[in-house]
Amino acid sequence: MGRIILFTGKGGVGKTSVAAAHAVKSAEEGKKTLLVSADMAHNIGDIFETRVGRTPVPLGENLDGLELDPDMLLLQEFPEAADAFRKLLQGSGAGTADPGDHFLIPGFEDLFSLLKIMQIYRSGKYDRILVDCAPAGETLSLLKLPELLSWYMEKFFPVGKTMVRILAPFSKAKYHVELPDRKAMDEIEEMHLELLRLQELLKDENISSVRLVCTPEKMVVEETKRSYMFLSLYGYRLDGVFINRVLPEEADNAFFRGWREIQRGYMEELRQVFRGIPMSGIPWYPAEVRGKGAIGRICREILTEPDLFEVRTVSGGEEYTGIPGGYQLCVPLPGALQGQADVRVHGMDLDIILNNYTRRIPLPDILRGIRPSEVVLEDGKLRISFPAERGEESPAARERGQA
Ligand SMILES: Nc1ncnc2c1ncn2[C@@H]1O[C@H](COP(=O)(O)OP(=O)(O)OP(=O)(O)O)[C@@H](O)[C@H]1O
Ligand SMILES: [Mg+2]
Repeated sequence: MGRIILFTGKGGVGKTSVAAAHAVKSAEEGKKTLLVSADMAHNIGDIFETRVGRTPVPLGENLDGLELDPDMLLLQEFPEAADAFRKLLQGSGAGTADPGDHFLIPGFEDLFSLLKIMQIYRSGKYDRILVDCAPAGETLSLLKLPELLSWYMEKFFPVGKTMVRILAPFSKAKYHVELPDRKAMDEIEEMHLELLRLQELLKDENISSVRLVCTPEKMVVEETKRSYMFLSLYGYRLDGVFINRVLPEEADNAFFRGWREIQRGYMEELRQVFRGIPMSGIPWYPAEVRGKGAIGRICREILTEPDLFEVRTVSGGEEYTGIPGGYQLCVPLPGALQGQADVRVHGMDLDIILNNYTRRIPLPDILRGIRPSEVVLEDGKLRISFPAERGEESPAARERGQA
């Protein structure tokens, strides 16, 4: 079984350096490794001091590099899928494609990078695929798309293909959507399945995980904490944190002593927040991380754990459990504060709203139409309780609960 690790973090913190070091280390272990950049501002080529392009180029024994271009992928590799999405979005009114062929969902094109990564994974050509992602905000927006879009598809095209065809003439009046024609419908259905498979792959606890890179300074620490929270909200597994640019002991004059003290404070905070997640510090080196020598140094000095390429954490996404008198949905939201998460039931779905992110979870049949009786946010976990039977809600039941 292959392995996919996504590296992300705030801009400029060292994502590419850390991803490249993992790649070199992996190749040294004799595993066929692909280092792939899904960041439009590619810099794999810069760090390896060579040209890397839109098809894999060898960077060393067992190691290839690839810089994805979502616009090109869309035109050359996924034109049918792109068409299907365009029609879907136009039909549902969820967004449209402008005449210049750009989707009006920000970052939508990047979805094709993820689809390409899935394709490469399936090809079985590589044991490990290490993804140098865009800065955290963009990556999070991207990682929520597969689920969001498949939700859209289910919502607007909820019945089987045959039914859709029978219904098509009535759909506009009934659903206020214009159903695409038969061929487009087939493409949309195929795309829907691909999106489900993509989610399955990226959330598979034996295959995929995310590693965050950060530096010990206020703004970065805050963003890193938020990233952890949002990754958890969408059910992605974090299994590594790399604190880069840690000032070494020898930086010992009054100026650096002050900075080292500041860094120590933030490192302690990160240790608290990411308890249970493997964490490594990387020293601030006297020169840029460029070329194989500099990358090799990180491999030798930092990436020394024998289980480096395992999926190293067990905590996963949401979980339903039976509780006395009903069911409970538990969603890990590490670092979320009381009152920060809002929970709403919309017919068949449950929305969890955290700042400007909303995760819409379709409720299992048994809970459909049932309103939560209690919503509690405690110890980094959001627990939403449901009474067992329809109509048996406790008096405290409400449609809109704030944790
Ligand atoms: N530990 C370190 N010591 C010294 N220089 C470093 C260290 N880590 C990274 N750098 C340098 O900092 C710069 C940014 O690093 P890198 O490109 O890995 O970050 P990034 O997060 O990928 O950035 P971007 O968001 O621009 O893609 C590079 O010039 C790199 O050589
Ligand atoms: Mg980079």
